Amino acid sequence: MPDFPTETRSFPKALHRTIHRPAGARIPRAVAALAATSPLVAACAGPQSTFTAAGTESESVLFLFYVMVAGGTAIWLFVIGLSLYAVRTTPAKDGARIGVRLIIWGGCVFPTVVLTALLFWGLKEMPGYRRPADGPRIAVSGERFWWRVAYDVEGEPGIVKSLPTGGVESANEIWIPVGRRTEILLGSPDVIHSFWVPALAGKTDMIPGRVNRLVLEPTVEGVYNGVCAEFCGSAHAQMAFRVVVVSEDAYAAHVAAQAEPAAVVASPGLDRFIENGCAACHTVRGTPADGSVGPDLTHVASRRTIGAGLLETTEANLADFIRATDHVKPGVEMPSFGALPDDEVAVIARWLGELR
Ligand code: CUA
Repeated sequence: MPDFPTETRSFPKALHRTIHRPAGARIPRAVAALAATSPLVAACAGPQSTFTAAGTESESVLFLFYVMVAGGTAIWLFVIGLSLYAVRTTPAKDGARIGVRLIIWGGCVFPTVVLTALLFWGLKEMPGYRRPADGPRIAVSGERFWWRVAYDVEGEPGIVKSLPTGGVESANEIWIPVGRRTEILLGSPDVIHSFWVPALAGKTDMIPGRVNRLVLEPTVEGVYNGVCAEFCGSAHAQMAFRVVVVSEDAYAAHVAAQAEPAAVVASPGLDRFIENGCAACHTVRGTPADGSVGPDLTHVASRRTIGAGLLETTEANLADFIRATDHVKPGVEMPSFGALPDDEVAVIARWLGELR
């Protein structure tokens, strides 16, 4: 599986970047953005780029984009050429007649033909996006500021105003099989978020009081970045996730593993976790912890990131997140447990790190 370099960083570096972004950092980014718009350098595409088209929808959108860039470039060159000609030439005797003809053909007929052609192209592409799913059904709820994921949920959402329940719960990382049309049901309990995996498909809003459907049909195995694309509150920019595209067998094995209870259900770390009230918000299946406010942590160590795509899942990062939650991720709903002694935090982090 092509594993792109993930964008997660160790705690101090990530924090450093959040707080002290050097002013000069903007220039290379702007240059990169400019470069990315050129088909010649599409190789610069990464795990969070629409230029890495790894799904049927993103491939057709990318192709349409190239067609429009090529068409736009041709029209621009023609118009610039015409303007240069106009300022250099001397007006002909029958200039007015030529001008009128140019306006009719170039200003009315040509745009009408081009826009009509693009409209029909769009209409032709649309049914493809709406083809029914033939893969798993996964519910994803946009929370503040993370992603609640449930595999193989039961029941039709239909016009029901909430996501179907049941299924195997996870968070912030979504596995889907390659070559199948996976149905993602999107909802939110309070504010509007937008679910966006640039490499796979366009954005779809997650709106309280309704269920939106998005069908993802990935064509290339790999790990892709997803983000929240609708301002939803203070930690909006740190509301990311990973999509892991694997073979059908690997997908089935992953969901089966996620359905298992926690790997370690007796540990000093678990005791401290319960004593300090963590279980009021988090579930760890197989233990008394059954809170539902925060992410399910049953297999937290099997995920690539913690804090919704923010930090690599390591014991040290888990400890930092518990100790200085609102410092690592300003705006997070979870309170910081800075008052806990370091060794107690370390014991909890060690146990969480064992929950593969
Ligand atoms: Cu969720 Cu922005």
